[in-house]
Amino acid sequence: MFNILIIEDQKNMRESLVIAFKRAGYNTDSVESGEKAVELQKDHSYDLVVVDLKMETMDGLEVLSHIKHVNPSTEVVVMTAFGTIDSAIQAMRKGAYDYVTKPFQLSDILSVVERALEKKCLSEKVDNLQKETRENYKFGGIIGNSPVMMRLLNILVELTNSESTVLITGESGTGKELVAHAIHSNSRRSDKPFVVVNCGALPENLQESELFGHVMGSFTGAVKDKKGIFLEAQGGTLFLDEIGETSLSAQVKLLRFLQNGEIRKVGDNKPIYLDIRTIVATNKDLDEATKNGSFRKDLFYRLNVIRIHLPPLRERKEDIPLLINYFVNVYANKLRKKPPEISGDAMASLLNYPWPGNVRELENVIERAVTLMKGDMVAVADLALEIVSPADIMGVMKEMGGIRAALAQEERKTIIESLQRYAGNRKQVATNLGISTTTLWRKMKEYQIVSKTSYNTENV
Ligand SMILES: Nc1ncnc2c1ncn2[C@@H]1O[C@H](COP(=O)(O)OP(=O)(O)OP(=O)(O)O)[C@@H](O)[C@H]1O
Ligand SMILES: [Mg+2]
Repeated sequence: MFNILIIEDQKNMRESLVIAFKRAGYNTDSVESGEKAVELQKDHSYDLVVVDLKMETMDGLEVLSHIKHVNPSTEVVVMTAFGTIDSAIQAMRKGAYDYVTKPFQLSDILSVVERALEKKCLSEKVDNLQKETRENYKFGGIIGNSPVMMRLLNILVELTNSESTVLITGESGTGKELVAHAIHSNSRRSDKPFVVVNCGALPENLQESELFGHVMGSFTGAVKDKKGIFLEAQGGTLFLDEIGETSLSAQVKLLRFLQNGEIRKVGDNKPIYLDIRTIVATNKDLDEATKNGSFRKDLFYRLNVIRIHLPPLRERKEDIPLLINYFVNVYANKLRKKPPEISGDAMASLLNYPWPGNVRELENVIERAVTLMKGDMVAVADLALEIVSPADIMGVMKEMGGIRAALAQEERKTIIESLQRYAGNRKQVATNLGISTTTLWRKMKEYQIVSKTSYNTENV
């Protein structure tokens, strides 16, 4: 029920308004002066106030300012006498919803009040929606409302104001790069470069020079000076992906940089001091790597101060409907289609699927479904090949070995063809295949595909 306050110094008028408003079903209070209204507002909250502009003591405009100041969402309707339209206009400028000119029919003022309250409800709804959206999307497009993701988002907010190195772990497609980017774009460095390097894609013997640069003549093939990736990131954030793949010599240099902020180019003894925030990621078990000696312990300890682990999607199923909704809208917008509904069966399959490729796989499945669907409903049949209805899952899991092997064959062939088509340019190949360069790199490694083109940073 709405609470309404009437401020009117003429007794007759005041009383008839109170009767009319009460009859219309509103909780109605009334006072005869601005001063009393101000007093009452201290411990009452009104949805709407009706105020007479011309009163003996405190002027209606003054009362209006006060009300709006105390609670901007209180709607105000003013009553003016014929011939004082100027003050009505002034009142509107100060935030009144509307005015009625005396004399008026009670039904007139009631309908104005009704409209004002309707508008108030609507704008409150919009506010809430916006707030909800902001909360879901508050951090650089990271969607998720599972407890673990909510906790993570809170940690991220804290992290943006710090300069600490962050280690992000998680399976492929869980959003490691997305998180790194979100930290960068919410930090003071947001207008400086965000440089992504996939360490695994750098040939071992060139890692040091690619990362830290070299001077001409420092080794055979160093025909001119090279700037190096670190220098490119000056002032900004450097995201070292697949950190577990760095060579031991590059690890030494990285550790020195983390300890005292300086790097040296290969073949040069002059230190260069850099202001860079480092974020690293891996989907490898670094603890394990330190045990077998492929990763330096001291570097691991240095990196392991703040660790963010992104759990696989199958361990946070609550996020699935939200992610589906998000991607459905993204791709429907892109394709200028009306966002489709997801049938109950399809939703059940999506929730039950184990998502080995995590969010990336979910995104691909939704993109495909939205692209191919006919009508305005996504059904189980519109979902990708590997998605099956819950009842069939067990059977398919058994056959999965065979299916996976066949798929792998297909995938390998497609990648090789694409590499040939784009003369080994991995960026173009990845774009063409709709995967990230990291995934391309991992698949090439997995399928033992060696690309002949010589390495070049732009092609990573
Ligand atoms: N929580 C999320 N909300 C919205 N989109 C997400 C989320 N997590 C991942 N994505 C999307 O999924 C895709 C994969 O994410 P990303 O590249 O960050 O994963 P990754 O962990 O770096 O994977 P990889 O180990 O294969 O490099 C991207 O398109 C990303 O935008
Ligand atoms: Mg990645």
